[in-house]
Amino acid sequence: MLPRIGQPLDRVDGRLKVTGGARYAAEFPPSTVGAGLVHAVLVQSTIARGTITGFDLGAAKALPGVLAILTPDSTMPLPDVKPSSAVASIPMLRDRKVRYQGQHIAVVVADTLERAQDAASRVVVHYATEPAVTTMEDGLKGAYKPHSFANGRQPPDTSRGDFDGAFTGAAIKIDETYVTPIEHHNAMEPHATIAAWNGDRVTVYNATQSVSGTQQTVATCLGIAPRQVQVVADFIGGGFGSKGVTWPHVVLAAIAAREVGRPVKLVLTRAQMYSSNGYRPKTIQHVRLGADATGQLVAIGHDGLAQMSDPELGEFTETVGIASQMLYACPNVSVTHRVVPIAAPLPTFMRAPGEASGVYALESAMDELAVALKIDPLDLRLRNYAETDGHEGKPFSSKSLRDCYTKGAALFGWDKRPLTPGTLRSGDKLLGWGMATATYPMNRGQAEATVHVFANGSAVLRIGSQDIGTGTYTVLTQVVADALSLPPAAVRTELGDSRFPKAPGSGGSQTVASCAPAAQAAAQACRQKLIDMTLADGQSPFQGRGAEAIDFIDGNLVLKDQPTTRIAIGDVLKRAGTERIEATAGSRPGDEKQHYSMHSFGAQFVEVSVDPELGEVRVLRYVGAFAAGRILNAKTGRSQLIGGITYGIGMALLEETLVDRKTGRVTNPTLAEYLMPVHADIPDIQTIFIEEDDALVNALGVKGIGELPMVGVAAAIANAVYHATGRRVRDLPLRPEKVLGLTI
Ligand code: MOS
Repeated sequence: MLPRIGQPLDRVDGRLKVTGGARYAAEFPPSTVGAGLVHAVLVQSTIARGTITGFDLGAAKALPGVLAILTPDSTMPLPDVKPSSAVASIPMLRDRKVRYQGQHIAVVVADTLERAQDAASRVVVHYATEPAVTTMEDGLKGAYKPHSFANGRQPPDTSRGDFDGAFTGAAIKIDETYVTPIEHHNAMEPHATIAAWNGDRVTVYNATQSVSGTQQTVATCLGIAPRQVQVVADFIGGGFGSKGVTWPHVVLAAIAAREVGRPVKLVLTRAQMYSSNGYRPKTIQHVRLGADATGQLVAIGHDGLAQMSDPELGEFTETVGIASQMLYACPNVSVTHRVVPIAAPLPTFMRAPGEASGVYALESAMDELAVALKIDPLDLRLRNYAETDGHEGKPFSSKSLRDCYTKGAALFGWDKRPLTPGTLRSGDKLLGWGMATATYPMNRGQAEATVHVFANGSAVLRIGSQDIGTGTYTVLTQVVADALSLPPAAVRTELGDSRFPKAPGSGGSQTVASCAPAAQAAAQACRQKLIDMTLADGQSPFQGRGAEAIDFIDGNLVLKDQPTTRIAIGDVLKRAGTERIEATAGSRPGDEKQHYSMHSFGAQFVEVSVDPELGEVRVLRYVGAFAAGRILNAKTGRSQLIGGITYGIGMALLEETLVDRKTGRVTNPTLAEYLMPVHADIPDIQTIFIEEDDALVNALGVKGIGELPMVGVAAAIANAVYHATGRRVRDLPLRPEKVLGLTI
C-alpha cells in the first residue's frame, strides 16, 4: 500500500556528498553570496570572570587588509535583547563584562582569512580580573531551582505518592550518586556563517539545525523584521543539538557584514567550538531506589544537579529526572532538578538531552538493585514494566518495549548470562554482559509544505526544514513519491531555506514526525487537484465517474475497477494546458498528548571485555532493539541507530571535556585530545526495529529516532563492566584508572 515508505532507499543526496557537490555554509562562493567576500575572526576572553578595562587595537589596525575591528566600544547600538528561547545566549559585545573563558569580546574583519587571524592575534585586551568559580564542585553551594524548565511542560520538582515513607520502609534499598562529565557535540562540520546584506535585507548562510530559528534570532537581535532575513542551509554536517539554537557568532557575522558593507564569512575553529556553542553540562545525580523482596519497585528518587553558566547568559537545565518519572511502574516517585551556576558558557541540548545523562544514572541504579536482589537485570525490568505512564496518568499511544526486551535478548543470547560477576573470560580478559532500557519522548511541531507537480511528470517538495545529515531529504522524497505514486527519482526535495513554508528546528527528534505529515498533506492536496482536473476534463476517460473511483498507480490516475483505464499525471496537466500545479498544506499536533503519553522505547545489550591489568574496556558485541513507530527508511533509520549507539559508546568510555580549575580554560579542545570512538572501537552493531502502527502520534505513525538509540548505552556498558569485574564505576567516562579502582 505504501510501497516506498519503509524501503531502504539510498540517500538521494549521497552522490552530491561523496563527490563534494553538497555545499555547506562556509562553502558558498562569492558568485552566490556576492562579490567582495571578506573574513571575520573572533577574539575571545582569556579570563573566566572580570571586566575589560581597555583594548589596544593599534597593532592590529595597522596591518594591511584589516577592514574593521568590532569591540563592545565600537559596535553600533543593538536592541536590548534578553535571553529567551529564541536568543539562547545574549549576543556578545554588549558590555565589557566577562562571564566565562572564551567569551567573544571582539571581531576582526579583513580581506583574507590569514590577515584576519593575524590581526586578531594582535588585539591586546586589558582586564580587571575577578575570582571565578570554574568547576561544579566549587559552585555547589550556589545551586538553585531553575526558573525555566523543560519548555514549561512541567515544574523542576515533581512527586507522586510518598517517596520518603516508601523508601524508608523498603526491604531493599539502593542509594548512590552518579556523575557525568561535560561533553561537546563535535559535529564534523564546524559552526560557520556567511552574512551578506542587500539594502536592509540580509542573507545568512548558516550551519544550523533550524533555518526558521536562525531567521527569528537574527531578526530579533538586529531589530529588523524576520522577512528581512533569509537563512540558507542546504547541507549540515551534523549538529547534535549544538546547532539547534543560534549562537552569538551568527549575529556577530551579520553585524560585521553590515559594518564593512561586504559579505562576511565567519567560521569557528575547532577549539572555539568548545566555548561558543553549548555543551552537555556535568551532572551529579543522586538516585534512590526502594524495592520489596520480590523486586517490585516501591520508591524512585532522582535528584539531579546540573552545571550551568552565569544566569545572565540565560538558563539551561539538563532534565535528568524526566524519564525516571515514567519508565517503571512505581507508586512513590520524587524527582528534583537544581542548576549550579559557575563561570562557564551556557550549556545546551546535546543528543538525547536529559535522557542520555539521566537514564545512565537510573539504569545503573536498576542494575545495582538487580544485584542486591540477586535477580537477572532484564527480569527486574520486566517485573516493573509500566503498562501506563504513571507520571502523566495516561495510557501510552503505543509501547512495544516488551518486544524490544525479548527480541533483543534473544538475538544477544541473554538467557545464557551467568548471574555472578567475574565468571566470563576469554583468554586473559574478563567478559561482561550488560543491558539497559532506552526511552525518548515523541516530539512534533507545526510544519507547512508546498508540493509542485509538473507536466513532465516530476514533482518538487519545498519545506523550511533542514537535513542535519540524517536523511531528511531522502525520507521526505519517499513520502511525496508515495503519495503521488511516482518513482523517487521523479521527486526532488528542497530544504534549508527560510523562504520555504515554515517548519520547526531539527531538534528533539521531531523532524520527520513534524515534516513528513506536512509533505504528505501537500502531496495529497496535489493529488486532489489532479483528480479534480481530470474530472473537469470533458475528454477524460474518467467521464461520469467520481473522485472515489480513482487511484494513483505508477504515476497514473487509474480507475480502481478498471485498471486499464488510466492517464499519466503529466498528461492531466498537459490536457489542461498547465505546466505546473502546486499546493501548500500543513500538519500540527492536536490535543492527542492530553489523552496519551507518547514515547519511543528500546533495549540495549552489550558484551564488553576488560583487561584486568590495564583497565581497558572494549565493546565486543552490541544488540539494540528499538520501537519508534513507523520507520520511513530502513537504511537511513539503521544508520541513525548505529550513530546513536556509537555516540553512547563514546559517552560511556571516552568523552569528557576537561576544564582547568584555575583559568576555566578547556584543556582538551581538539579532536586529538577530546577522545571519541573511531571505527576500531565499534563492533558490528546489530539492530532490530520493532515496527509499531501508531495512528495517534501523527498521520504517518512516526515517533522519531534521532536521540533514542543513544539513551541507555552508557548504563548498559557500565553494567557490563560491573558484570565483568565486580567493580561498580559511577562516574563517566569509564577510563582505565576508574575501572582498575585507582584514585588519581
Ligand atoms: Mo537534539 S540535542 O534535540 O538536536
